[in-house]
Amino acid sequence: MAIERTFSIIKPDAVERGLIAEILKMITDSGLKIKGMKMMRMDRAKAEGFYAVHKERPFFGELVDYMISGPVVVSCLEGENAIENYRKLMGATNPAQAEEGTIRAAYGMSIQNNACHGSDGPDTARTEVAYFFNDDELVG
Ligand code: CDP
Ligand code: MG
Repeated sequence: MAIERTFSIIKPDAVERGLIAEILKMITDSGLKIKGMKMMRMDRAKAEGFYAVHKERPFFGELVDYMISGPVVVSCLEGENAIENYRKLMGATNPAQAEEGTIRAAYGMSIQNNACHGSDGPDTARTEVAYFFNDDELVG
């Protein structure tokens, strides 16, 4: 398996509930390495650009409102098969359907407020990492 990079967000609902450390522990315990990380608050344009692929979906407006409702922690994660492994660690989009032991099963509140984001493939991983990080911020 190749070493890959993926992009992660600890979403506003999880930051607000004080879960940054718990989620980062699940990430690093799984073997993923943090290459870069920062806490930030997205503005509307940034969040709309990030979720542009969903702009025709009925939930888009609420999703953007939620993603700018408070700070998030964005990170670039690296490891073997990182993209798929992190998707598995997050669990299903709807926390009610997420397997036990996943981040969303443990900490997700609803299909929208589901604690975390992870890239869904190599192209999105590359684009998403570059959307939030300059090369000189990937220091890990
Ligand atoms: O995040 P993931 O890739 O698992 O799901 P997605 O289908 O790419 O949707 C992106 C995000 O939109 C989800 O993580 C949810 O926060 C939100 N969403 C929502 O609010 N309502 C839905 N019916 C589906 C997704
Ligand atoms: Mg997605």
